[in-house]
Amino acid sequence: MKRVDDFRLKLGKHELVPIMIGGMGVDISTTELALEAARLGGVGHISDAMVPTISDRRYDTKFIKNKLKQYKFNVDNSDKSVVQFDLGMVEEATRLHVSRTMEAKRGPGLVFVNCMEKLTMNAPKETLRVRLRTAMDAGIEGITLAAGLHLGSFGLIEDHPRFRDVKLGIIVSSLRALQLFIKKTARTNRLPDYVVIEGPLAGGHLGFGMDWAQYDLATIVAEIQTWLWAEKLNIPLIPAGGIFTGSDAVAFLENGGAAVQVATRFTVAKECGLPPEVQQEYFKASEESIEVNQISPTGYPMRMLKGSPAIGNGIHPNCEAFGYILDSKGHCSYIDAYNREVAAHPGAKKVKVWDKTCLCTHMRNFDLWTCGHYTYRLKDTTRKNEDGSYQSLSAEHIFRDYQFSTDNRIALPD
Ligand SMILES: Cc1cc2nc3c(=O)[nH]c(=O)nc-3n(C[C@H](O)[C@H](O)[C@H](O)COP(=O)(O)O)c2cc1C
Repeated sequence: MKRVDDFRLKLGKHELVPIMIGGMGVDISTTELALEAARLGGVGHISDAMVPTISDRRYDTKFIKNKLKQYKFNVDNSDKSVVQFDLGMVEEATRLHVSRTMEAKRGPGLVFVNCMEKLTMNAPKETLRVRLRTAMDAGIEGITLAAGLHLGSFGLIEDHPRFRDVKLGIIVSSLRALQLFIKKTARTNRLPDYVVIEGPLAGGHLGFGMDWAQYDLATIVAEIQTWLWAEKLNIPLIPAGGIFTGSDAVAFLENGGAAVQVATRFTVAKECGLPPEVQQEYFKASEESIEVNQISPTGYPMRMLKGSPAIGNGIHPNCEAFGYILDSKGHCSYIDAYNREVAAHPGAKKVKVWDKTCLCTHMRNFDLWTCGHYTYRLKDTTRKNEDGSYQSLSAEHIFRDYQFSTDNRIALPD
């Protein structure tokens, strides 16, 4: 019977344990979590989602305070087009986050950054260019292009000296998305170094519509593999979404997967950014307490715990401080939803907004509990304390459980 450890992911000159911990914004996949994956010989991700906000929390900068001060005059205006990110600030924050992480890296594995295209920041192209290039300047070993088709992303970095050295991958949920990406980036004469195929059971935003349940990860992987063979393209494929045990991973590795990307199991690791009390909510989850809904203003469906404080919360939009989801015209669908409720309830001190959420504020505060489909199985991965709470796990324990387990077994902590 095979174990994950019988396989290796080859990326250039690197031979890695074929376990990639997926990016989880906003600072849920922390530096500490990514560093553990690298120390143990796999691949870890930090995320550059809301990186100025993360920098303030981690490195004592004042980026957001200063941004709010600059744009305070616009707080009650629903047109947010003036609220622009200072690109120098985005650069400095990205440099701090990436370089501090890379300086601390030990071991044979790699640290990548997850970069979401849907984080449009009121100037999609300009801000993405700075985020990508600064991560490369600051020594990141790989970039996983996420949440979007990224048809122009290679073009933003093709003249960077590290363009052919940094590992570049893309997350897709369909063959069509991959075909489009390869076609549109062909002129840069560079293929992605790996493709993460994210199925419908993943956490975070989904690359499917509300009919997500009709899709199946193994089928999409097989389709993509067949097409790559026919095109004589050799790109490592990394399935993701619902791979909960080492045996689940082995099944994909035996069927053409070069590695697996996993996340949900690590949401309850000590090194994960979720506060301990929120991790207890993840442990307690039942299948019925998880939903896929459309409240994210990105337009993508998102999976989350129904008990997330973000759901229904009608907070005033915080775009002057944050504004990471503002599109190129300074617009976010939460602003409309909020204004509609305020107009419908004149004089009310607080309103409820059910159809959209202020993603920036709630992700920053860990009040939007996004999670994978199998979150309800997390309680089976640990022991209960005497007070009824669940014991949190080390990232090393979870990583090694994926690496060495057989027979669908999950090792409990000592
Ligand atoms: C809490 C959480 C947050 C996530 N955030 C992101 C994100 O910011 N960007 C992204 O590309 N994927 C995100 N994902 C998806 C994961 O990186 C990963 O591909 C997927 O969840 C793997 O499936 P699994 O959770 O069933 O193991 C997130 C997943 C979770 C559980």
